Amino acid sequence: MQHRREDVWGKDSGDFKPERWEARRSGWEYLPFNGGPRICIGQQFALTEAGYVLVCMLQRFDGLEDVHADQRIRWDLALVSAPGDTVTVRLLEASR
Ligand code: HEM
Repeated sequence: MQHRREDVWGKDSGDFKPERWEARRSGWEYLPFNGGPRICIGQQFALTEAGYVLVCMLQRFDGLEDVHADQRIRWDLALVSAPGDTVTVRLLEASR
């Protein structure tokens, strides 16, 4: 689990901590699209699409609720990481 390595990311490597990116310029320790000659050919497309979808969602919704807040989050860690159970969240539509 390269992207959770404590020697690279610190003891809190498993925590959701977006501010860890503030002063960081990543190199070979962060490889969601891998690197080198076989780097993902769709990287720019995927990032553009993700940014577009995110902005559309932020324009439409202004809140997010965990429907089962008491439920422990389980991971399905394989080649990629994914939620171990169905993700049950409720998006709150912004009033215009
Ligand atoms: C978040 C989205 C994506 C992630 C995290 C991702 C990640 C990866 C990774 C890790 C590889 C393996 C690179 C290697 O073998 O060294 C790969 C390969 C590849 N990806 Fe993606 N990818 C994403 C989206 C896309 C999209 C949108 C496309 C096409 C429109 C795409 C097309 C490809 C192709 C064709 C390869 C094979 C490249 C090769 O073997 O030369 N990927 N991707």
